[in-house]
Amino acid sequence: MADADRDRWDSRHAAAVAAGADGIAPPDALRGRTELLPPGGRALDVACGRGAVAVWLAAQGFAVDAVDVSPVALDAGRRLAAREGVPVRWLLHDLDAGLPDAGTYDVVVCQRFRDPARYPELVARIAPGGLLVVTVLSEVGEGPGPFRAPAGELRAAFGALEVLHHVERDGEASIVARFSGSASTSARR
Ligand SMILES: C[S@@+](CC[C@H](N)C(=O)[O-])C[C@H]1O[C@@H](n2cnc3c(N)ncnc32)[C@H](O)[C@@H]1O
Repeated sequence: MADADRDRWDSRHAAAVAAGADGIAPPDALRGRTELLPPGGRALDVACGRGAVAVWLAAQGFAVDAVDVSPVALDAGRRLAAREGVPVRWLLHDLDAGLPDAGTYDVVVCQRFRDPARYPELVARIAPGGLLVVTVLSEVGEGPGPFRAPAGELRAAFGALEVLHHVERDGEASIVARFSGSASTSARR
């Protein structure tokens, strides 16, 4: 990522911090279906922002790695985790270089960060029986845009997993899917 782009993200996060009111929350795609989460283990929050989801996962008992390119966002996440009294491992990392390689996870969340080049790596990071939770901006219900997923993108990318929930509407697309653990799952190749 170019320095100017990272500075832009830092500024956006700084403005949100100044506005206050950061709190913890489950991933949007799991609202009303948090029972789909495995009982515990490791969780990865990709492009975690100021940590609302990462800290929520830690509060559920997961050992969380949270990745973002913005130091301002990660500092806000650290403060949120301290306030909630939970540990999170914060990883300053540019996803343009790929996902950090730290093994597999029982939960992989990627919310409102869309890079189709990373989709196979998201799948590769899911442990057998683990859950993938993705939400991206979508063209469905909104129209074309440079950062929006065309209709069907998430199902095409992740449909080889066991899809438990999928929705595209009002400018957003979400998928919740489980990796059965079958070595023949083509999405992991
Ligand atoms: C729209 S925010 C979403 C944050 C969080 N996932 C949420 O749902 O609130 C997108 C996040 O992606 C991060 N980001 C953008 N490009 C990135 C990159 N190349 N590597 C790592 N993080 C990146 C930004 O810093 C920002 O925190």
